[in-house]
Amino acid sequence: MSSVFSMAPFFESENKSRVAVIGSGNWGSVAAKLIASNTLKLPSFHDEVRMWVFEETLPSGKKLSAVINQTNENVKYLPGIKLGKNVVADPDLEHAVTDSNMLVFVTPHQFMEGICKRIQGKIRKDAQAISLVKGMEVKRDGPSMISTIISQKLGISCCVLMGANIANEIAQENFSEATVGYRENKEIAEKWVHLFNTPFFSVSSVQDVEGVELCGTLKNVVAIAAGFVDGLEMGNNTKAAIMRIGLREMKAFSKLLFSSVKDNTFFESCGVADLITTCLGGRNRKCAEAFAKHGGKRSFDELEAEMLQGQKLQGVLTAKEVHEVLCHRGWLESFPLFATVHEICIRRLPPAAIVKYSEHTHQHSRASL
Ligand SMILES: NC(=O)c1ccc[n+]([C@@H]2O[C@H](COP(=O)([O-])OP(=O)(O)OC[C@H]3O[C@@H](n4cnc5c(N)ncnc54)[C@H](O)[C@@H]3O)[C@@H](O)[C@H]2O)c1
Repeated sequence: MSSVFSMAPFFESENKSRVAVIGSGNWGSVAAKLIASNTLKLPSFHDEVRMWVFEETLPSGKKLSAVINQTNENVKYLPGIKLGKNVVADPDLEHAVTDSNMLVFVTPHQFMEGICKRIQGKIRKDAQAISLVKGMEVKRDGPSMISTIISQKLGISCCVLMGANIANEIAQENFSEATVGYRENKEIAEKWVHLFNTPFFSVSSVQDVEGVELCGTLKNVVAIAAGFVDGLEMGNNTKAAIMRIGLREMKAFSKLLFSSVKDNTFFESCGVADLITTCLGGRNRKCAEAFAKHGGKRSFDELEAEMLQGQKLQGVLTAKEVHEVLCHRGWLESFPLFATVHEICIRRLPPAAIVKYSEHTHQHSRASL
């Protein structure tokens, strides 16, 4: 009997979940901060949150990960905000994930496939994942959502978390909401909800991974359109029209790709709320506004480098990926707004074409949306 008692704390500690955050940009750092505030309070989690840092050398000559660990602040991607002493920055990807059974993926989507390849076979057998990544990969055989890439490459289940979540506002602890999308296992979804939920960050779950993930991905394309409208100073009515048309295309595109996508998902935080916040604030809107103000004469690459200080623009790349899907599937004419955003981004059309998109498509095909 006595030996059982003496082993109890060991088993208790072994049963606790360990969290690793893979990514440390603007949202990655805020996610780590949110999670770290909860792991301190929740007895089922180890306090420490490991955060993988894509290492870079700062102008001071110091390594970013070392500075984060010294100052408890991501001075490059989230300056002025303390992350919590239990956040440990780790520049070694494999080391960062090795002990964790709860993996939170939050990097720009173009890096996700490479990251998954690097940790293939190196994670715990009982690991679970959640993706906060907005975007998709387009392959020859069709589009792949990031959660699917994670599941397939790592052989683990993957939920998603999306919502009206401009990272800097959450860092200030202003109230917002988010949606966890899950496939089958409600219990795992609730564990993620528990890990993220705080009094100022209200998280709920829906059984619709693809719907939630596509909302988060596609709204960045609509935000580019909203930015064009702002840059051309067309006013709020026009922007509202673009948002409505964009939401309609988001819903139609998602349902064509996955018939399982639910209508109600578009009314969750990941749907209409994220669309609104991204079209009002956010970096996609901001860069697209500048693009239109310059009459499309400066490229998005240039504007991203100049305006975002290392943060990545997702909407332009997503517009290209969506366009590829539309071309492959013969759906171009049914999605005039999505198609036009891409044409403007690659400077085949002027920014003003954003409100003339119907001229580039056939009216009758849009009626079916
Ligand atoms: N920032 C937001 O407000 C916000 C909100 C919700 C969702 N998101 C989504 O979260 C995801 C991550 O965005 P973020 O804001 O944390 O990042 P970010 O755009 O602020 O920063 C870019 C990150 O990419 C890293 N990076 C650069 N080159 C890399 C490489 N070759 N390999 C791996 N990493 C590299 C950088 O070190 C940095 O951490 C994106 O999908 C984004 O759409 C962002």
